[in-house]
Amino acid sequence: MHNFQYSNPTRVCFGEGQIASLPELIPADSRVLVLYGGGSIKHNGVYDQLVAALAGRDWQEFSGIGANPQYDQLMEAVALVKREGIDFLLAVGGGSVVDGTKFVAAAACYQGEDPWDILKSGAPFERALPLGCVLTLPATGSESNPAAVVSRGDAKLSFYNPLVLPQFAVLDPTTTYSLPPRQVGNGVVDAFVHILEQYLTFPVGGDVQDRLAEGLLQVLIDNGPLALSEPQNYQVRANIMWAASLALNGLIGRGVPHDWSSHAIGHQLTALYGLDHAQSLAVVLPSLLREQSAQKQEKLCQYAKRVWQASREDKALRIEEAIIRTEQFFQQMGVGTRLSDYSLNESCIPAICSNLKRFELTALGEHQDIDPDKVARILSHAL
Ligand code: NZQ
Ligand code: ZN
Repeated sequence: MHNFQYSNPTRVCFGEGQIASLPELIPADSRVLVLYGGGSIKHNGVYDQLVAALAGRDWQEFSGIGANPQYDQLMEAVALVKREGIDFLLAVGGGSVVDGTKFVAAAACYQGEDPWDILKSGAPFERALPLGCVLTLPATGSESNPAAVVSRGDAKLSFYNPLVLPQFAVLDPTTTYSLPPRQVGNGVVDAFVHILEQYLTFPVGGDVQDRLAEGLLQVLIDNGPLALSEPQNYQVRANIMWAASLALNGLIGRGVPHDWSSHAIGHQLTALYGLDHAQSLAVVLPSLLREQSAQKQEKLCQYAKRVWQASREDKALRIEEAIIRTEQFFQQMGVGTRLSDYSLNESCIPAICSNLKRFELTALGEHQDIDPDKVARILSHAL
């Protein structure tokens, strides 16, 4: 196991009715801006619970943050924050709203010339507004991690800074009952891939990390399909919500190598062709695992045996069985695993490779051996 430090100070308030604890979580004298998306919270009772919890508080709202939050729109929120002297941000929604809020928190205090530099060149910043969140879509782990992904035109870029770690995350599984099947599937697939990208590399003796990862994968395999067939099953929703959080709150990834190449490639598919984040991952990951099966052989065999109970003697056959089972699971969650499922063909490949070059994402993977030529091969096997 590699050396590591681990700290995750986000206070998680988990369970039905936890939105009511907001008054204890937000300092009483704050000027609060509530940021949310396109309106799902107005239809599922979350907004009403929010209004009740914030009664008597000084708060305003900024709505309409869409999937893959856009820089220009977020800058409107930054202007509002500055104009109104806002000093606390509350994100209410899915990963896009939480990520967008993190960017607003950083950009509102940014001292440099152009806040886009936070994303474009990873410009450091020393201050951000405090934020908390009420999560309504288990998927990204953004509710208790320091990462955010923001888009501008055909650029989809991320930044990481502990200053934008939410102070608290309210996780009420009943808020997820209203998710459309497409977002249920997306969430489960995204969390599943987050776990695999911290697990399917090479062994370093991280038994704790491996067993945690395998357990979380099992929880998603068991509960994901049930969330589609029994949308109001509380325990199912609770297990998915907690698993998705633990998948990317830093815990399982400490002390082990990572491979975020499926995300790096997938972000280009979203930026250029509009695939949902999880759709892009479901296309890239299986093909990438096949391409990298030699480098990942030991962990793939372990994954095959422990997660899918694949028992074939021949290692290559066992690995292929695990990859097929993974694809079938994504498809069972309603997420297509081929570019053709999204009306794309080989003509998209050069643009994706050139975007990767443009953002200097040319040495991906745990061995930095995935270059644009390899990406082209991976995508051509995912047609
Ligand atoms: O906008 P509203 O009306 O709220 O509708 C949303 C949106 O249309 C809807 N939704 C959310 N909660 C709902 C609901 N509909 C009904 N009932 C509910 N309870 O779902 C749609 C998608 O929401 P979005 O926030 O875009 O989805 P998700 O949570 O999957 O977030 C995706 C974004 O997160 C980034 C992705 O790249 C993408 O931009 N990621 C962030 C990460 C991080 N910060 O650590 C890591 C991830 O790998 C990922 O890259
Ligand atoms: Zn993801």
